[in-house]
Amino acid sequence: MNINNSLCWLLLPYFLFLLSLPSSSSSFCNHHDSSVLLLFKNSLALNTSHHYYWFVDHYPWLHDYCSFSSKTESWKNGTDCCEWDGVTCDIISGHVIGLDLSCSNLQGQLHPNSTIFSLRHLQQLDLSYNDFSGSSLYSTIGDLVNLMHLNLSYSQISGDIPSTISYLSKLLSLDLGCLYLTIGDPNYARMRVDRYTWKKLIQNATNLRELYLDGADMSSIRESSLSLLTNLSSSLISLTLRDTKLQGNLSGDILCLPNLQILSLSGNEDLRGELPKSNWSTPLRHLGLAYTAFSGNIPDSIGHLKSLNILVLKNCNFDGLVPSSLFNLTQLSTLDLGNNHLTGSIGEFSSSYSLEYLILSNNKLRGNFPNSIFELQNLITLSLSSTDLSGHLDFHQFTKLKNLYYLDLSYNSLLSINFDSTADYILPNLQFLYLSSCNINSFPKFLAPLQNLLQLDLSHNNIRGSIPHWFHEKLLHSWKNIDFIDLSFNKLQGDLPIPPNGIEYFLVSNNELTGNIPSAMCNASSLKILNLAHNNLTGPIPQCLGTFPSLWALDLQNNNLYGSIPGIFSKGNALETIKLNENQLDGPLPRSLAHCTNLEVLDLADNNIEDTFPHWLESLQELQVLSLRSNKFHGVITCYGAKHPFLRLRIFDVSNNNFSGPLPTSYIKNFQKMMNVNANQTCSIGLKNVVTTRSPYNDSVVVVMKGRYMELVRIFFAFTTIDLSNNMFEGELPKVIGELYSLIGLNLSHNAITGTIPKSLGYLRNLEWLDLSCNQLTGAIPVALINLSFLAVFNLSQNRFEGIIPIGGQFNTFGNDSYAGNPMLCGFPLSKSCNKDEDWPPHSTFQHEESGFGWKSVAVGFACGLVFGMLLGYNVFMTGKPPLLARLVEGVHISGVKRTNNRIHAN
Ligand SMILES: *[C@@H]1O[C@H](CO)[C@@H](O)[C@H](O)[C@H]1NC(C)=O
Ligand SMILES: *[C@@H]1O[C@H](CO)[C@@H](O)[C@H](O)[C@H]1NC(C)=O
Ligand SMILES: *[C@@H]1O[C@H](CO)[C@@H](O)[C@H](O)[C@H]1NC(C)=O
Ligand SMILES: *[C@@H]1O[C@H](CO)[C@@H](O)[C@H](O)[C@H]1NC(C)=O
Ligand SMILES: *[C@@H]1O[C@H](CO)[C@@H](O)[C@H](O)[C@H]1NC(C)=O
Ligand SMILES: *[C@@H]1O[C@H](CO)[C@@H](O)[C@H](O)[C@H]1NC(C)=O
Ligand SMILES: *[C@@H]1O[C@H](CO)[C@@H](O)[C@H](O)[C@H]1NC(C)=O
Ligand SMILES: *[C@@H]1O[C@H](CO)[C@@H](O)[C@H](O)[C@H]1NC(C)=O
Repeated sequence: MNINNSLCWLLLPYFLFLLSLPSSSSSFCNHHDSSVLLLFKNSLALNTSHHYYWFVDHYPWLHDYCSFSSKTESWKNGTDCCEWDGVTCDIISGHVIGLDLSCSNLQGQLHPNSTIFSLRHLQQLDLSYNDFSGSSLYSTIGDLVNLMHLNLSYSQISGDIPSTISYLSKLLSLDLGCLYLTIGDPNYARMRVDRYTWKKLIQNATNLRELYLDGADMSSIRESSLSLLTNLSSSLISLTLRDTKLQGNLSGDILCLPNLQILSLSGNEDLRGELPKSNWSTPLRHLGLAYTAFSGNIPDSIGHLKSLNILVLKNCNFDGLVPSSLFNLTQLSTLDLGNNHLTGSIGEFSSSYSLEYLILSNNKLRGNFPNSIFELQNLITLSLSSTDLSGHLDFHQFTKLKNLYYLDLSYNSLLSINFDSTADYILPNLQFLYLSSCNINSFPKFLAPLQNLLQLDLSHNNIRGSIPHWFHEKLLHSWKNIDFIDLSFNKLQGDLPIPPNGIEYFLVSNNELTGNIPSAMCNASSLKILNLAHNNLTGPIPQCLGTFPSLWALDLQNNNLYGSIPGIFSKGNALETIKLNENQLDGPLPRSLAHCTNLEVLDLADNNIEDTFPHWLESLQELQVLSLRSNKFHGVITCYGAKHPFLRLRIFDVSNNNFSGPLPTSYIKNFQKMMNVNANQTCSIGLKNVVTTRSPYNDSVVVVMKGRYMELVRIFFAFTTIDLSNNMFEGELPKVIGELYSLIGLNLSHNAITGTIPKSLGYLRNLEWLDLSCNQLTGAIPVALINLSFLAVFNLSQNRFEGIIPIGGQFNTFGNDSYAGNPMLCGFPLSKSCNKDEDWPPHSTFQHEESGFGWKSVAVGFACGLVFGMLLGYNVFMTGKPPLLARLVEGVHISGVKRTNNRIHAN
């Protein structure tokens, strides 16, 4: 037999098999499998509109990966299931062995008995990018013992991953990843992998090459179980466990697995570890450890990773030098070492011409600006902000970087940038330019030829004089897509530039701009933040500002604006902050302010507004700051009748007005926020502010604190104050004031308050200042006040108090001034001593139990009270960035403000 013949004989059975197939194609597919698929199809809905909104809103950056199509629409009873979209059959048996229903618009619950788990021959199952509405994965998944590829990423499956998943010993790839972006989404639920399941899975599925569990809750997994991963040393190629709550110390061995190409553990803030000094996984292409607690040096040996393409180590604790060997890596395209403690110069870019994204911001690099950067001709993104670089930089050099699209040199106060070259500047692709705090003295002319600027930050420089004419022109006619302009903190003069239609963020505060706010501003109706504060603008406020649908911060404070507040605030507006304080505004308050249901800060202080108390604002459930200080408000403050008036108010300042009548007891009773002391609550006002990496807008508010005007840049949870001073309030102090436990400052001075100080004031343990001066209060100073161990400012002067001044606690620190004008008071610190024969209540009768506060604590409080109080605030500020942010940001920049290219080097 010749070779051809032998081949024929070998293939004969196959031909015979083909011939034996009936003509109807429907029977090729296994009957059981076919009906199982139909039942599965029928158990779910198809919802095409859902997916557009759901995925675009929730995972905008993922949209690119999926082109949605309703594959199951082609599944019809009576046709061959092997021909159906997404179905693959075994060519011999007709069994379904592959099911790819990714991006198929499926919506509904997966049931425990879902027929799909009876497809025992399945080798590949892909249900990614569907909406199983928070269904759990059931133990029946373990029946699919032939699975080699399982993909349930972004399929809205949540809950415990059943331990039976470990039966899938043939798995080559397992993808259960889902990175959540939405905060407060009711559907936010993670999958959970427990220690036991993890252990069994890793020990059984020994061929795993790709393992993706992004977003799953792996917090119960201990270091020892995690290190089992090294068991997969011969197989593992890709491992991503981003945002999985992993914690503990991860051995650097993971980076020595011989076949590892992709490793990302980003977003696990409590995961510690160090990079190996040697024996790196040489095939490594992608290493992401952003937002972890990895620390130590980046060793020079990282230069052995010749295939390294993406290295993202931002927001860790790395220190030491930036290894120069990195710049020898010819494949490296993304290098992000931002927000670490790295030092050293970065002068030798020898052969890393491949670099496209170079981010070294927020390190202590120091040294001269490395001119060799201009050799990196492929750079698209360069961020060197806050790197302490110094020396002279001839900006003209950037024209060598033809692809440059994003440039951030901000916060390098030692750098002096020279724009004065006479040569033409051509940066054809530049769209994002951030030059904040760079010692710029004049408006950079090179901006003029830029074609398509999207974001511009020139804030915190020394730019003087009026804004050049060409800049106004560019805004009007060329930069149609610009959405962010920050020129604040300069010395700009002249007219306000008119922001273009589509702009979202326009900040020109703290300049010397004059003239009116032009009505052309009304075209910029997409604005989200408008900050014109601290200028010398005059004229009326354009009425249209209240109708911008997306505006959430309107800050016009400290100008010379006059006229009335815009009369029309549209229903459903987005305003969270309105600051019109320190102007010359008059007239009554527009009732439509009550439409600002998201309002958190309303500051109208220091104007000439004439009205009664706006009790109609009491239904604003988010309002945290209400300042009407120094206006012409008058009348009695009474409740309007809302169930929970001013539910979240924490700063209430109506001082320096003409209010009269009794103290607003009905409101005080309802100041819930001031009653709560929850030391765990660190978030400041407005999540939006927090979420942005470089917040363009801080919610600050001026309060009179301890007798001085202070601008608080953040409003701390613990910071709650009431200021009713300089009015004509009368009547007695309500006992209920003693329930505002979070209160830090209380100022009721300069009123006509009578009666005694209620003992309950002694419960206000957080009080740092208390001013009751210039009233008609009588009686003794309650001994209970020595409980106020943080009290630093205390003023009872000009009243009619009598008796002995309590001794102990902070009272030992107050001077005469605190008591002046109370002729009937005696004892320290006054020179008038008390007549021992008079029957003053001796201190020893003070009931500690009543207040639950013993002498010992008082003494301790006295020693460190004030410091603690202040530190608390400081600490809250420093840690104000919620971990949530860090968890979420890696790879994807969710700031609506600064669109970075992070998306491109999604890790
Ligand atoms: C498919 O069609 C057959 C014959 O019409 C019917 O008996 C069977 O129940 C159908 N299967 C499904 C899943 O609808
Ligand atoms: C489809 O999804 C959209 C958006 O989630 C939802 O509003 C709509 O009710 C869904 N349609 C059906 C038929 O469930
Ligand atoms: C499968 O489960 C669902 C929901 O638990 C139930 O309604 C249905 O009757 C079950 N079907 C079978 C065949 O057990
Ligand atoms: C899972 O599916 C998604 C979307 O279809 C895809 O992007 C991803 O690469 C898949 N995972 C694996 C391991 O193939
Ligand atoms: C490992 O996989 C095999 C094959 O599916 C299974 O029989 C066995 O029970 C699994 N072992 C564990 C510990 O899950
Ligand atoms: C960069 O590579 C060159 C040539 O391979 C080598 O001589 C040099 O020492 C390397 N530099 C660093 C810092 O690793
Ligand atoms: C602000 O403008 C007013 C006139 O509108 C002028 O009197 C005043 O001096 C200006 N203030 C500053 C600080 O330029
Ligand atoms: C604050 O956090 C601690 C530790 O996380 C917790 O034990 C405590 O219950 C929390 N307190 C409140 C009031 O939430």
